[in-house]
Amino acid sequence: PETYDFIVVANRLPVDSVTDEEGNQRWRMSPGGLVAALEPLMKSTDGAWVGWPGAADVVLDPFEHENIQMVPIALNEEEVERYYEGFSNDTLWPLYHDVIAQPSYHREWWDSYVAVNRRFADAAARIADKGATVWVHDYQLQLVPGMLREARPDLTIGFFNHIPFPAYGIFSQLPWRQQIISGLLGADVIGFQRVADAGNFTRAVRRLFGYETKGTRVWVPVGDSSDATTGDRSHVRGAPVRRVIARAYPISIDVTSYVELAQKPEVQARAREIREELGNPKTIMLGVDRLDYTKGIGHRLKAFGELLAEGRLDVQDVTLVQVASPSRERVASYMQLRDEIELTVGRINGDYGSIGHTAINYLHQGYPREEMVALYLAADVMLVTALRDGMNLVAKEYVATRADLGGVLVLSEFAGASDDLRQALLINPHDIEGVKEAVVRAIDMPAAEKRRRMRALRKRVLENDVVKWSRVFLDELKQSTTAHPVSH
Ligand code: G6P
Repeated sequence: PETYDFIVVANRLPVDSVTDEEGNQRWRMSPGGLVAALEPLMKSTDGAWVGWPGAADVVLDPFEHENIQMVPIALNEEEVERYYEGFSNDTLWPLYHDVIAQPSYHREWWDSYVAVNRRFADAAARIADKGATVWVHDYQLQLVPGMLREARPDLTIGFFNHIPFPAYGIFSQLPWRQQIISGLLGADVIGFQRVADAGNFTRAVRRLFGYETKGTRVWVPVGDSSDATTGDRSHVRGAPVRRVIARAYPISIDVTSYVELAQKPEVQARAREIREELGNPKTIMLGVDRLDYTKGIGHRLKAFGELLAEGRLDVQDVTLVQVASPSRERVASYMQLRDEIELTVGRINGDYGSIGHTAINYLHQGYPREEMVALYLAADVMLVTALRDGMNLVAKEYVATRADLGGVLVLSEFAGASDDLRQALLINPHDIEGVKEAVVRAIDMPAAEKRRRMRALRKRVLENDVVKWSRVFLDELKQSTTAHPVSH
């Protein structure tokens, strides 16, 4: 069997299945940031990507697409329900986002999570060259680093957590908290979005295992019998230790592709067309999110509705475009959210709209990147009101596209992006009056202040693109294993 010296392990493969005009099925690279970050590296090295094709019971042989070796992992219907919709998205997702929704704890979901993580780890172990680097991604696969280290101690293993890591008081709810920490500690470098996330993780390590930590370093006893299923560890005093780095590496976007798209005449023409189609209002406000309860869409709508009710905004002048792309539609909390949002949109439009002037243009659809960029260019005010968000790349995309230095970003301090984007109008989405004030301020902001803020924001985003992010992470990973071998 073929082996590779760089392997990415992520829940999803970076390709979507599309059917062309002749009815033939083919693969298309999906437009995510992770793909953009790793594509150059994957193509120049001998790279493989282990992931799920995204639908139940799809059993595929490995295949090559655009010079990347794809290694598909099949999930049956029950595993999609228990591992993906259940444990990943109805246990870990709400827990890691500060229990905005109530997490559900089911032993059968956990068992499935262990079994599926094992399948991903086995696949990676099978195709890894001796001494290869394996980079595991996100909350769906937290046991993979531990499983891999056990099977293949020769590998260099990185893990990146794309979502927040909660404070111990919340994390400790998880009945399988020890197993999760054990699994993650199989990595040489564990990356987080924010300094606060890395701190929460090292505190959990100390509380649960009593291992020594200092700053971003954790010392893990080697040869501890650790079992991914039970999480049991028996610690031998004076035994050798392995150093693990747990640090923040804030992710970014493929800046160049957004900047280039925003310069395209067709995209700029489409932006003008969108403004016209909306009736050339004085102000277009925009929200772009997966339809997810972490995004604070309801809080945003409440603030907007109240501004209309109080007469501080008028539908003759202002319209809100809310793109809410469908996500995890079979999970109950997402169905409920959809009902709530659509009820609220209907009420606001019914109460404050007029013929020819809709208050909220609500779109429960996904759009290609060109259309998103045209929307960013058309939007005078971008609203990011997440209640909790690992990073929020929409905020960075908006900034990257606004080379005209127009537009105002209103940004939640609960999104990781707010660590970097200090020149946005920062808000606490729970403070509805504060959100309303920020919206009014954004609308009334003098052009000179807009330019000053956007220039500062663009500097941050342009200097830190996703290729740099992956380079910094992988450099640290390489150093962590060469410069600091196991010590006594
Ligand atoms: C977040 C997660 C990703 C996930 C994405 C889409 O960004 O961090 O791991 O892929 O949401 O969610 P989905 O469940 O459709 O993969």
